[in-house]
Amino acid sequence: MPKRTFKIFRFNPETDSKPSYKTYDVECEGWWTVLDALNEIKWFVDGTVTYRRSCRHGICGSCAMMINGKNDLACELQIKTLKGTITVDPLPGFEIYRDLAVNMDPFYAALKRVKPWLINNDPYPSKERIQSPEEFKLMGDSIACILCAACTSSCPSFWSDEQYLGPAALLKAYRYTFDTRDKGLGDRIDALDNKHGLWRCHKITNCYHACPKHLNPTEQISKLQRRIIEEKM
Ligand code: SF4
Ligand code: F3S
Ligand code: FES
Repeated sequence: MPKRTFKIFRFNPETDSKPSYKTYDVECEGWWTVLDALNEIKWFVDGTVTYRRSCRHGICGSCAMMINGKNDLACELQIKTLKGTITVDPLPGFEIYRDLAVNMDPFYAALKRVKPWLINNDPYPSKERIQSPEEFKLMGDSIACILCAACTSSCPSFWSDEQYLGPAALLKAYRYTFDTRDKGLGDRIDALDNKHGLWRCHKITNCYHACPKHLNPTEQISKLQRRIIEEKM
């Protein structure tokens, strides 16, 4: 099995005065992802390495981290696609809890501000709320977001304004605003229509390039901006 070198960001705020990198040489199977190598290190070499993971299938969004300078999912990124030493950092823009695990509270707080659930106070229909295939398509691929935070963590507007909703929360707002069953735009507009909301997006597109699910928050934020302007006219 070929040996690969991993340079992993290490920081324990309880014992370290500053962060450092620790290097590990790991024999890797050809099919391994970065998460497989992290697990090998944690389980057999150094149990103190700390990171989040759960599903191992690109579904839960837990394992987002910066790998060779780009946010990605450790459980999807195959080692064979990476050249040389593989450097692994925590998601930028968030407080570091320990090593690769960051404080996600601001991310979930932003999400909560856009009320990411269906709002419709009409009387319940006798069966489900019907949606045609054409209506379903209006939501685009926003429904495929796994809330991994790779986008928000890569956004300079978020780095400079921790109150900014960020692309993931805005994409979620888009998903419900363009859901024909939802009537909640009036409840969300205060969170969206301010300098920490939609208008903080300067179309930098880092979010688009960072998304491991190939979603396009930039485009859908623009559509949401137009929708808010129309709403106010
Ligand atoms: Fe992750 Fe993409 Fe959703 Fe952002 S838009 S949270 S990068 S899946
Ligand atoms: Fe940030 Fe994406 Fe807008 S990177 S500024 S949310 S286009
Ligand atoms: Fe769930 Fe990677 S472990 S997305």
